[in-house]
Parts: sequence; structure tokens; C-alpha cells
Amino acid sequence: MQTYDRSAKYTDLDKIYAHCSGPGGLKLAEFMAEAMGIRPNARLLDVGANRGIQSCFLAREFGVFVVAIDPWDDRMDERPMVEHILEQAAEWNVSDTVLAIQMGVPDTKFAAESFDYVYSTTALEMVRTMRGENGYLACLREIHRVLRPGGVFGLGEPMHLDVPLPPDLEPFVSQDEYPWKECFRDIHETRAAVEQAGFDVIEADYVPDAREWWLEYARHDPFCREKPEDDPRTLEVDDGRWTSFGYVLARRG
Ligand SMILES: C[S@@+](CC[C@H](N)C(=O)[O-])C[C@H]1O[C@@H](n2cnc3c(N)ncnc32)[C@H](O)[C@@H]1O
Repeated sequence: MQTYDRSAKYTDLDKIYAHCSGPGGLKLAEFMAEAMGIRPNARLLDVGANRGIQSCFLAREFGVFVVAIDPWDDRMDERPMVEHILEQAAEWNVSDTVLAIQMGVPDTKFAAESFDYVYSTTALEMVRTMRGENGYLACLREIHRVLRPGGVFGLGEPMHLDVPLPPDLEPFVSQDEYPWKECFRDIHETRAAVEQAGFDVIEADYVPDAREWWLEYARHDPFCREKPEDDPRTLEVDDGRWTSFGYVLARRG
């Protein structure tokens, strides 16, 4: 299994999973940042930052200036996510390098070519369910627009393996507001969408530790802890057969 030197310093997994929402936590952020080759002093856009813990981690550990965007209010306390992001930034001592704005893709107001990197994890697959494939593509095109030529886009998403959905798993991934069956695609479909948006794909694969990340999420995410019959049960039934996590690294030509 891969070692995660920078995220290993942050050991309170209950707290980490309370402030991000999705598998991987800070390990995911570290994995993506290493894969993207993030360099200090660059401008990074975090799309779908949630409470911003990954944005703060990237700012502190990789020395980037982060613009963290999220359009929604928090599910737990109904405050705008951006308020949480600003609080996180103060707690992480990165208030001078993390800026939070309440907005989402594809409706950003950024000038074209504003960023050196765009990072987005566990966010756009939900937009797919809300806005369909064309809406998903519109988000990717917006990310392409705001990235500078030569800039790198790192997309990390819950995905399913390139196998048919096991029939006994089907009812579990067809439930809730954002059914996994509707949200998740396989790595080939995701790569094709990124290419269709105009990017040159550098690398696309499933992460090696996908199953461990999902199980860690099931143990530590507050909603999973409250409702073990939901996602944790789905992951138990799945048993690593269909659910995974993939990433696409792409460059704007
Ligand atoms: C599941 S959280 C992921 C948080 C974090 N990036 C992670 O990997 O754990 C997804 C976030 O995407 C945000 N979101 C929803 N629609 C969006 C949009 N159109 N553009 C950007 N973010 C959006 C939601 O508000 C939510 O906070």
C-alpha cells in the first residue's frame, strides 16, 4: 500500500471526515497533489471544496494559493460552506493563502486562464445526476476555460470498475438523493468526457487504495456513523466488486 507522508501527520480521522465528505480524506488530496506535480506559489482552484479541509491541507503542505469554491450550504448546520472554509483556513493558519467563494461550476465568474491547477474530488459526479451528461461536460469545459494553457487538471471521482453491476448490489446503489448508480461512471467513460471537454489526458486509472479509502470513510464519516445501514452497508454488500475510485490527470494544451 502507498504511504502518505504529508497526510499521516493529521491523525484525527473523525475530524477529517467531518470536514470533507467522501472517501480518501487528506490521503486523497495528497495522492492527487503528488500525481498533479503541484508546485509551491502556484494558483489552484478547488472545485467543490465542501468545508475546505483539503484546500487548507494543499495550501499548507504544498504551498499553493487556493481559491476554494462551493455553492451549497452545509448539510449539518445549514451555514454556507464558505464560512466553514474560512474557519478551517484560520485553524490551519493559512488564511492568507486560502480564499473561499460561494459559487460552483459551470457558472464561475473567473477570467479565462486564471489558474495553474484545478483540483476537484468527489464533486462533479453529483453534478452529473443533477444536470445530466451535458451539464457534467459543461463543468469540465468551464474548468478548461479557467485553466491556463499548460495547466493541470486533477479530477478524482467515485467510479465503478469496468464490470457489470452485480444484481444483488443494484438495490443498494439505486437509493437516496444521489444514487451511486446514476453518479458513478467507469474510468474509460470519465477519461472520454475529459477529452471531449478539450483536455489532453496525461493519465487515467483507478487509485490503488480505493477500497481502503471507502472503508475508512465508512468508519469515520459522520453520516455513515449515524446510519450504518446506508453507505457502510452498501460497501459491505459490494465487497470491492463494483465500487471504486478513479482519477484523471489532464493538461490544457
Ligand atoms: C461530497 S463533497 C466533496 C468534498 C471534497 N472535495 C472531498 O473530496 O471530500 C461535494 C461538494 O461539491 C459541492 N458542489 C455541488 N454542486 C457543485 C457545483 N456545481 N460546483 C462545485 N461544487 C459543487 C457540494 O456543495 C459539496 O460540498
